[in-house]
Amino acid sequence: MKPVLISGIQPSGRLHIGNYLGAIKNFLELQESGKYECLFFVADWHSLTENFDPKEKNEQIMDLAINFIALGINPNLATLFLQSHVLEHTELMWLLTSITPFGELSRMTQFKDKSARQEENVNVGLFTYPVLMAADILVYKAAFVPVGEDQLQHLEFARTLARKFNSKFGEVLVEPKSLMTATPKVMDLKEPKKKMSKSMPGGCLFIDDTEEEIRKKIMSATTDSETVVRYDDEKKPGLANLLRIYNALSSVAIADLENQYKDKNYSHFKKDLAEVVVNYFADFREKKMVWKKREEEVMGILNEGARKAKIMAGKNIADIRGKMGLV
Ligand code: TYM
Repeated sequence: MKPVLISGIQPSGRLHIGNYLGAIKNFLELQESGKYECLFFVADWHSLTENFDPKEKNEQIMDLAINFIALGINPNLATLFLQSHVLEHTELMWLLTSITPFGELSRMTQFKDKSARQEENVNVGLFTYPVLMAADILVYKAAFVPVGEDQLQHLEFARTLARKFNSKFGEVLVEPKSLMTATPKVMDLKEPKKKMSKSMPGGCLFIDDTEEEIRKKIMSATTDSETVVRYDDEKKPGLANLLRIYNALSSVAIADLENQYKDKNYSHFKKDLAEVVVNYFADFREKKMVWKKREEEVMGILNEGARKAKIMAGKNIADIRGKMGLV
């Protein structure tokens, strides 16, 4: 049996190039490798911890599922589903809360950041968010979790819970390991010292931006007053970020890019990068238009995915319940 690999994305806004280069690009490569039993899901429950409108939420869930498929998640190679269709995740979450220290959750970076950002809505879901995320992973006994750098603390927390559970109740859970890409932290285009994030849409390059938007955003990305194209993350964080994006989408080494743009200015470099991005996502944009008209088929894929995921999770949760003495 192949090792299980799982990851999820929240349907809480449009996908940006950070989501793609930090996570989805890896999902596609790992799926194609044939080495893993791959599970990918829309983390719709997690996204309810931020302010939302139900109608908009419904659209965001379908949009993310369509994005997954249009980007290349293949239902013949991977199981694609909605988190809220597999109730075993929430059952395990409850079981795990009994071994989760309150203090540890209150120290999680994301909880502190998000509570500060939505002071009027510091809900309990925001607090228990990492326990649900641990359950998402542990309920499948997943060995690998491809994520960007910002999720490492949550993953470490899941590992700690697995260890604690096993030592208290007997070996049953698997400690998951993270898998990261060469670009685990894509930076904001306007403020390159900050991570690109849906919460700051002004600095995001969205993968379904139009060609014009892509060009405009890249041409106006923050760089520095020096004009030489060279990689220096400390002194030239904006340019370094653009070089990493160029490298990740073209496979041209950063040293070769420095060489190629040795005698050229930033605007020349940015123009070329914009074309690289435009071309890279052209196929996706076309496929997305097609899949948007096939919502029923998308629902079919999600239902079949949930059916398969439930079988895997159901078998594991029975073992876990047993270890805890439930009858
Ligand atoms: P989410 O929806 O915020 O992000 C989805 C994925 O994109 C990565 N990412 C980035 N990578 C590089 N640079 C960036 N600027 C950047 N921004 C986001 C994230 O690290 C993530 O891999 N809690 C998760 C969803 C989740 C999950 C899970 C993931 C729920 N349960 C179980 C893995 C396993 C989240 O909010 O990701």
